[in-house]
Amino acid sequence: MVPLNYLVVLATLVCGVLSAVHQPPPLPPPPPRGANHGKIVVCNYETKSHFREGQGKFDISNLEPALQYCTHLIYGYAAIKEDTLKLVPLNEQFDVIKDNYRKVTDLKVKFPKLKVLLSVGGNEDVSGEGAEKNLKYRQVLESSGHRLAFINSAHTIIKAYGFDGIDLAWEFPETKPKKIKSGFGKFWSSVKKTFTGETVLDENAQEHRDQFTALVRELKNTFKPDNLLVSLTVLPNINSTVYYDPRALAPNVDFVTLHAFDFYTPQRNPKLADFPSPLYDLIDRRPDENVDAWVKYWLSNGFPQNKLVIGIPSYGRTWKLEDGAKVDTVPPEGLDGAGSPGPLTKDAGILSYPEICVKVQGGTGNVSPQGYRKIQDSTNRRGSYAYKLPDEEKNEEGVWIAYEDPAAAANKATYVRNKGLAGIAVDDLTLDDFKGVCSNHQYSILRAAVAAL
Ligand SMILES: *[C@@H]1O[C@H](CO)[C@@H](O)[C@H](O)[C@H]1NC(C)=O
Repeated sequence: MVPLNYLVVLATLVCGVLSAVHQPPPLPPPPPRGANHGKIVVCNYETKSHFREGQGKFDISNLEPALQYCTHLIYGYAAIKEDTLKLVPLNEQFDVIKDNYRKVTDLKVKFPKLKVLLSVGGNEDVSGEGAEKNLKYRQVLESSGHRLAFINSAHTIIKAYGFDGIDLAWEFPETKPKKIKSGFGKFWSSVKKTFTGETVLDENAQEHRDQFTALVRELKNTFKPDNLLVSLTVLPNINSTVYYDPRALAPNVDFVTLHAFDFYTPQRNPKLADFPSPLYDLIDRRPDENVDAWVKYWLSNGFPQNKLVIGIPSYGRTWKLEDGAKVDTVPPEGLDGAGSPGPLTKDAGILSYPEICVKVQGGTGNVSPQGYRKIQDSTNRRGSYAYKLPDEEKNEEGVWIAYEDPAAAANKATYVRNKGLAGIAVDDLTLDDFKGVCSNHQYSILRAAVAAL
């Protein structure tokens, strides 16, 4: 017979251990209002989030808890109309008829220091296929008449809805993705130069670079009398060395945001995965697949550090793991395209930070209750990943997730501070933890980054 009080002590101990195990790690206190230390904090807002269902649906009211941390809010995205090459709303019904443009710029009443920019492109305004893909973005550049039509239409919309300026997230042709042959036993060094996906060979790249500089100059000249801002976002896999002339652009932009991430996505690289946004050069990668390389290109070509902003993704990319996949190295071997859609974002191959945190948080050691092993970045150079091997018996899919956690976001902000760069940009708010499911606070990625600035 075990005495009752023994059982009570035992039960208390077990409960204590269990609750200690499930306790989330201690959080940094939220930074006070305006504590961005004079840095730029760009908050991207992708309006397609309005059309997600259930808990993933994002409305303007969800922006408010973030805005105390943001200096700039970027409304994504506007489009270019193919026949007229004018700037137009991407979703006329939502942006204009339902008055979303106006509702967002009205947030300045409550947040008077906030600047709200309208961004064009952002890989959300996709047109054409093959060599025609996003051709309109090159056509706008190709004559001064086209540029003028674009600039005047942009000026009209920006003024009409009370935006503070424009952001050009220009859809230049992307670099070619790397592909490895299917099957195991292949390493980076044996990567074959066979390419997948749609890439466009731009024979007039040099002209487009010069014309883009002209567009930005002409845009700034038109916007300056009204004190309107002009910023640029360099999209993932756009080769800056081809399309951006940092020295010539510098006088005519307020800031430039580098989206140095998504070098590997399950859509571009179904068989090859990697860290989402490495800060520094890693072994066996192309030398320009990291944040630091992009920063070096801009700074060493005459761009001022106090106008350079570093983008931080608030989502992860996911790949399906085949049976027998090898996950003891990065890149893992045995990948089979995009992972299944998440419950909130419902899009194959991508998960928002809150969708990831509920999978990987808690548990003993590195394995979460949901069966994910998390490999945190101890080097502060790479970013984190987590995986779960396929389980045939339970009929559960294997997944490999590359993502940025609050620690990685803070690490990028520290880099920005140490290098004297202008600030950070979170891409985007709607994929950050806007409901506060990962911790006691909303917006873990944004807050961690701002706290480290
Ligand atoms: C970017 O362009 C430069 C040439 O300007 C080239 O050397 C480099 O390999 C390109 N990078 C990628 C990722 O294609």
